[in-house]
Amino acid sequence: MGSISLNSQSLFHISILLLSSFISVTYCQNFQGLSPLISPPLIPEILNFLDQRLAIVYQIIQNFKNAITSDPLNITQTWVGPDICNYTGFYCTSPPDNDSAIALASIDFNGFQLSAPTLDGFIDQLPDLALFHANSNKFSGTISPKIAELPFLYELDLSNNNFFGSFPMEILRIRGLSFLDLRFNFFTGTVPPQVFTQGLSVLFLNNNNFIQKLPENLGSTSVLYLTLANNKFIGPIPRSIIKASANLTEVLFLNNLLTGCLPYELGFLRKLVLFDASNNLLTGPLPCSLGCLAKLEQFNLAGNLLYGQVPEVVCALGNLANLSLSSNYFTKLGPICRKRVKSGVLDIRKNCIRDLPDQRSALECAAFLLHPRYCPNPASFNFIPCKHPSSSSHSRIGAKRNLVSYSSLLRHAAEFPGRN
Ligand SMILES: *[C@@H]1O[C@H](CO)[C@@H](O)[C@H](O)[C@H]1NC(C)=O
Ligand SMILES: *[C@@H]1O[C@H](CO)[C@@H](O)[C@H](O)[C@H]1NC(C)=O
Ligand SMILES: *[C@@H]1O[C@H](CO)[C@@H](O)[C@H](O)[C@H]1NC(C)=O
Ligand SMILES: *[C@@H]1O[C@H](CO)[C@@H](O)[C@H](O)[C@H]1NC(C)=O
Ligand SMILES: *[C@@H]1O[C@H](CO)[C@@H](O)[C@H](O)[C@H]1NC(C)=O
Repeated sequence: MGSISLNSQSLFHISILLLSSFISVTYCQNFQGLSPLISPPLIPEILNFLDQRLAIVYQIIQNFKNAITSDPLNITQTWVGPDICNYTGFYCTSPPDNDSAIALASIDFNGFQLSAPTLDGFIDQLPDLALFHANSNKFSGTISPKIAELPFLYELDLSNNNFFGSFPMEILRIRGLSFLDLRFNFFTGTVPPQVFTQGLSVLFLNNNNFIQKLPENLGSTSVLYLTLANNKFIGPIPRSIIKASANLTEVLFLNNLLTGCLPYELGFLRKLVLFDASNNLLTGPLPCSLGCLAKLEQFNLAGNLLYGQVPEVVCALGNLANLSLSSNYFTKLGPICRKRVKSGVLDIRKNCIRDLPDQRSALECAAFLLHPRYCPNPASFNFIPCKHPSSSSHSRIGAKRNLVSYSSLLRHAAEFPGRN
């Protein structure tokens, strides 16, 4: 009750404010000798918000506008008057709880280059907000705990801003959150394990400064797209990753400091289309279980410490368009794999395969082999946990798709299927 009377009070204030600015505009126009025929019925139109829900957020937006310290593209010039749904970057629609209402549902500030010391008092005060996208601005500061009280928020994109410090824990309490993009900021410390149990579909944390072992509960994640690239994640890929097999579709671990051997459990990720763990310190042979990844198109493990024979079942994967194993220490290649080298699918340069061109020197290979490496459970590397490893009979090379996650490695806003 209390909050309703407060709202109508502020509505009243806003009306007064607009009325006075409108009068001065008409006066000014009269003064300049423009048409004095300003029709009176215009007045209520201008004063009226399309919906009470918009009246409530008007002052919040104006306060934020005043807090903006830099706006090189003059975006905020359009943030005037009661027609909030026409402000650049603001989008209205009916909220989920009332089909006949119009509410501010979505904000897309992508590429606006706005600077503000904080978003607190802004996004956390917009009760109907479902999407907030702010790629390529200069926002920073903390995230208010009140953000968890927004009932409809499901997409939060703060990528390529100036956020720093530890992971914003408040985000973990947003119940309906499905899309979280914090890439290209200056976050450091650890990623809280709760983020992997939050029910997300998309998690982009790449290009920050997270320093930690990959969390043991990584596999509890419900995401389809997981990007942890370009951080300082250490330790092995947890075997728990098998638990994510129902959804995990694209995984980017590249340019971290991951160690250990590839877990046999990777072969159970039946939805996997893209897996890139290039430029880490992974070692051991490739598990034959990878031959069960029937949907795999892009598999990149270049720049690691892998060795042994490249399993023929992996080279035989029917949908494989790019198998990048360059700059490792593989020593053997069977006939199917050799065909894949010829067709340009398998990149095996800079390894230790003596009869192929572009290999490491014998000295380099010998030095590597001088230090034997061991993987736990060595027998698991030969298991093939599916009846029919994928065959190359219906190879679809050339049908190159645009993979979603690779666009997350660029600073600018990424395009996603299923996003509005
Ligand atoms: C923004 O507005 C200023 C002052 O009105 C003008 O000088 C500048 O050219 C504008 N910039 C853009 C990108 O429109
Ligand atoms: C929306 O704003 C544009 C200019 O930014 C203006 O031309 C247009 O008339 C406005 N539409 C409404 C419905 O106010
Ligand atoms: C739904 O929104 C309309 C328009 O704002 C409003 O008149 C109506 O009272 C709302 N209904 C409910 C149940 O809140
Ligand atoms: C897979 O994703 C769907 C839709 O987001 C979700 O409901 C489901 O719980 C996820 N499955 C797992 C095992 O996380
Ligand atoms: C394979 O993937 C690597 C890494 O993304 C890329 O550099 C290379 O150009 C790709 N090769 C082909 C033939 O698509």
